[in-house]
Amino acid sequence: MAVIAVYSVKGGVGKTTLAANLAWYAAQGGRRTLLWDIDAAGGGAFLLGVDHTPKKKRSAESVFARETDPLKAIVPTPFPGLDLLPADGTIWALDAQLAALGKKNRLAKLAGEMQDHYQLIFLDCPPVLNQVSTQAMRAADVVIVPLPPSPLSARAFALVAEEVRGSGKHHPPMLPVLSMVDRRRTLHRDVIAANPTWPVIPFASTLEQCAVLRAPIGSFAPTSAPAQAIARLWRAIDAKLAQRKGSKSPA
Ligand SMILES: Nc1ncnc2c1ncn2[C@@H]1O[C@H](COP(=O)(O)OP(=O)(O)OP(=O)(O)O)[C@@H](O)[C@H]1O
Ligand SMILES: [Mg+2]
Repeated sequence: MAVIAVYSVKGGVGKTTLAANLAWYAAQGGRRTLLWDIDAAGGGAFLLGVDHTPKKKRSAESVFARETDPLKAIVPTPFPGLDLLPADGTIWALDAQLAALGKKNRLAKLAGEMQDHYQLIFLDCPPVLNQVSTQAMRAADVVIVPLPPSPLSARAFALVAEEVRGSGKHHPPMLPVLSMVDRRRTLHRDVIAANPTWPVIPFASTLEQCAVLRAPIGSFAPTSAPAQAIARLWRAIDAKLAQRKGSKSPA
């Protein structure tokens, strides 16, 4: 089992869009996949077309408090092989909850308990730098960092990397991804030229449509350029995970 966190301290950079779409490609490839939404805003459920009404007994907060088995709080999505551990309003104060619990590895341990059921867990992180992100980084095998193109992208990535390193002894590998790229803009082309190895996700109305149709792009526009870019990104992440684990990663 591998945990892939999609994280940035910045809001609105495409974390949820990437997490949900990458998870869909992973599931399409035959992996049992879970999208674990740890952002109280609950964008993961929305994007995957899940109308989730949290039950008090199975709230996100109760999962972190260990009052609910995470496996019992998981809901299926309309997409084969892809399940969701939803967020809800009960984790607005997850940072304080985790701090009060004093369990630094609670998130990693909960993820570990799901390893018999899932080959891949994608963490859709909130844009914070606190106990929630620290625990997510500790649980992650790889961290995807979406960065909108700007002359400061490399610096922004370095800052996130520094923060992740500062958040604990465990430093998962981090993969910067240029999100929302418009190649018609000189500045965006310059950022690509300056960071030629970084994967690029185009700015595209087809990707925005994910939030309208409440479905991953691969399910309604599989041959579009942004769908292919996300499929390529998934293959790159998968290859990175396979490298890290030697031959352990299933084909
Ligand atoms: N490549 C893209 N092209 C066009 N629109 C995009 C792209 N990626 C994301 N968006 C749109 O940008 C908005 C923000 O995306 P998203 O919710 O994925 O960001 P986020 O980083 O998860 O935000 P938050 O920090 O609030 O959780 C959404 O409306 C989404 O549809
Ligand atoms: Mg989000």
